[in-house]
Amino acid sequence: MIVLVGFMGAGKSSVGRLLAQRLGLPFVDSDDAVEQRTGRAIRDVFATDGEAAFRALERETIADLLGGPDVVLALGGGAVEDAATREALRGHDVVYLEVDLEEALQRVGGDAERPVLRDPQLAARYRTRVPDYAGVATLVVPTTGRDVEAVAGEVLTGLAAAS
Ligand code: S3P
Repeated sequence: MIVLVGFMGAGKSSVGRLLAQRLGLPFVDSDDAVEQRTGRAIRDVFATDGEAAFRALERETIADLLGGPDVVLALGGGAVEDAATREALRGHDVVYLEVDLEEALQRVGGDAERPVLRDPQLAARYRTRVPDYAGVATLVVPTTGRDVEAVAGEVLTGLAAAS
């Protein structure tokens, strides 16, 4: 199991898909898993029930996935805000895909499916999350200015060196 964490736009899904292909493992995105579980779009869960309700669903979904079969798992960018999720990540191979806020916003800016992008405190949220990503990570890979191939290659090398 490889778990990818990082801010929105860090490339968790695109890098994760490539890693999964290289490793012959399924790719799972926790956002997709939440949507499948609830039968609702994340945007709707945020709008109707609020962020706290989304975080609770996200926590349960991630706990199930971590206890399930081997996959490459990309977590939603805010999953590490939850202390129980941070705790559940202990003992797993967790890769922090690092990205500058500016480049992250260039990659995903304006996406209506990502309600947190409209948070007026987005920059503060980014700064608060950085130590959480770093705290759960067993490997940190910079992605700013780099393409998916280069990042995936460094993840594979880094994990091999750590094992
Ligand atoms: C969120 C990031 C999203 C998704 C939700 C909230 C966040 O995932 O979980 O919109 O709080 O940063 P991605 O990081 O895959 O965009």
